[in-house]
Amino acid sequence: MSYISVVVFSILICRSWSVDQLKFPPSFMFGAASAAYQVEGAWNVSDKSPNLWDKLIHDRPELVADGSNGDVACDSYHLWRRDIEMCEELGLNMYRFSISWSRLLPSGYPNYISEDGKNYYSNLIDGLLEKGIEPIVTIFHFDLPQILQDLGGWANPLITDWFADYAEVVFSLYADRVKYWLTINEPMMLCDGGYEELGAPYFDDPDVGRYLCNKHTMIAHAKAYRIYDDLFRDKYHGKISLPTLFFWFKPFTPEDQEVTDLTIDHWEGRYAHPIFSKEGGWPRKLEKLLNDLAKKEGYKQPRLPPFTPEEIQLVRGTYDYYALNHYTTRLVRRVKPGEQPGQWLFYGSSELNTIMDKDPAWGTTAVDWFSVYPPGLREQLHWLNSTYDVKEIIITENGVPSLDPDLVDTQRLEYYRDYLEQVLLAIKDGINVTGYIAWTLMDNFEWLNGYVAKYGLYAVDFSDPNRTRTPRESARYFSAVTKCRTIHPTQDNTKLNYV
Ligand SMILES: *[C@@H]1O[C@H](CO)[C@@H](O)[C@H](O)[C@H]1NC(C)=O
Ligand SMILES: *[C@@H]1O[C@H](CO)[C@@H](O)[C@H](O)[C@H]1NC(C)=O
Ligand SMILES: *[C@@H]1O[C@H](CO)[C@@H](O)[C@H](O)[C@H]1NC(C)=O
Ligand SMILES: *[C@@H]1O[C@H](CO)[C@@H](O)[C@H](O)[C@H]1NC(C)=O
Repeated sequence: MSYISVVVFSILICRSWSVDQLKFPPSFMFGAASAAYQVEGAWNVSDKSPNLWDKLIHDRPELVADGSNGDVACDSYHLWRRDIEMCEELGLNMYRFSISWSRLLPSGYPNYISEDGKNYYSNLIDGLLEKGIEPIVTIFHFDLPQILQDLGGWANPLITDWFADYAEVVFSLYADRVKYWLTINEPMMLCDGGYEELGAPYFDDPDVGRYLCNKHTMIAHAKAYRIYDDLFRDKYHGKISLPTLFFWFKPFTPEDQEVTDLTIDHWEGRYAHPIFSKEGGWPRKLEKLLNDLAKKEGYKQPRLPPFTPEEIQLVRGTYDYYALNHYTTRLVRRVKPGEQPGQWLFYGSSELNTIMDKDPAWGTTAVDWFSVYPPGLREQLHWLNSTYDVKEIIITENGVPSLDPDLVDTQRLEYYRDYLEQVLLAIKDGINVTGYIAWTLMDNFEWLNGYVAKYGLYAVDFSDPNRTRTPRESARYFSAVTKCRTIHPTQDNTKLNYV
């Protein structure tokens, strides 16, 4: 029933939408995204071993907003056929999902490959391709095998080889069918979040652990990229990148431009400059500032672990497109005398002595730090185009949270419409954005926000053992966009009133 209503609706609306609007090019790819721990469930089936999220929140359920966990989540391990059907209803060209390391390699190493794990992802890939939907596969999305976390996880330099070995297995199993790859999702959230108690491993180690993790994600990504280059590229001609999480930043006043540029390097540069810039390595100005700070604080080692010249060469240029996860924009300024810097990642930095906030003119959401400022996406795309040598950009995540499970999600619908309009404008400006992937296909386990924060085009009934998925208004709208290949950019909501 939902299938019929979504598809019929989008055919009807497409006729009524004006034809003289800006259109997405025929080759433009629309997608939606998910991640293994957030949707799969089946945390202990077959020979899967626990990952660090399983362990952390089984031990400490109080860390999660609603005390929940991902044991069952959306049960996509069993309901993946329905997930593919939803992609079809939405008219998607791509579906982005991630592979669970401890489901595929229960020991963490390639000495043993799980038959069940292997078949699960193989079936999902084949099922998507049968429907003409391109899989875009994230090799790692936060869920490290606990066995490797016990050895120090991303703070241990050996992880660069553990990850490369795992990636080689993934390529050898699926590269014949998968053409779009993402190595490590949002290392910013993994390292800055994981070592500042915003996620697993839930450490409070922002001076050291965070920066070891930062460097090791860069090397691990590069090693995986080089393996693809050496062993698979000639045969399969796929494309690889690393998705960065990037809020766009603007200065409160023109005097705050310098500290805003530093903030962009702190958020983005530490994870993008080593890979995407011509010179490689850490962003120079930020590196000096952070290392001077470490010295002042009495550390013998620099804050940003130095890259050797060989490592700079290893990492530099390891991308085939730019993968951007974009959500919101923040304003930045330095603290005034006597003022404290913002207390956590989204509110400022004690290292840069900054406060981040929203502009009162921007739209608000149910989440305090999350404002709606669509032009920020276009501004950021321009910044990317002029800062790095990128010939192709895919927006690998974009979406808005609500706390309300309602199926009439007008704010989400308008968010997609207004951010997609900025993508259209950026394309018109001459920036080569070739794809847009919505976060997220359906409500899922949003890490420490549990099932409280909802980002889904589809609502999921988590009290129903069948985890029934129901399209929201935003799903109908998105389905119309993928078919009409335009956005119907009206400010008048009554014109979108099609139910
Ligand atoms: C798997 O975990 C569930 C809880 O989510 C538990 O009820 C079940 O007994 C476990 N199964 C096995 C085989 O350990
Ligand atoms: C944009 O990227 C696609 C995919 O790499 C490429 O085929 C196309 O030529 C690019 N377009 C421009 C204008 O660079
Ligand atoms: C994107 O960057 C390229 C290379 O620097 C430049 O030639 C082009 O004008 C830029 N496009 C836009 C829209 O700024
Ligand atoms: C769950 O699915 C099963 C099998 O399709 C069906 O028999 C059952 O009625 C469903 N339960 C609910 C609560 O929808």
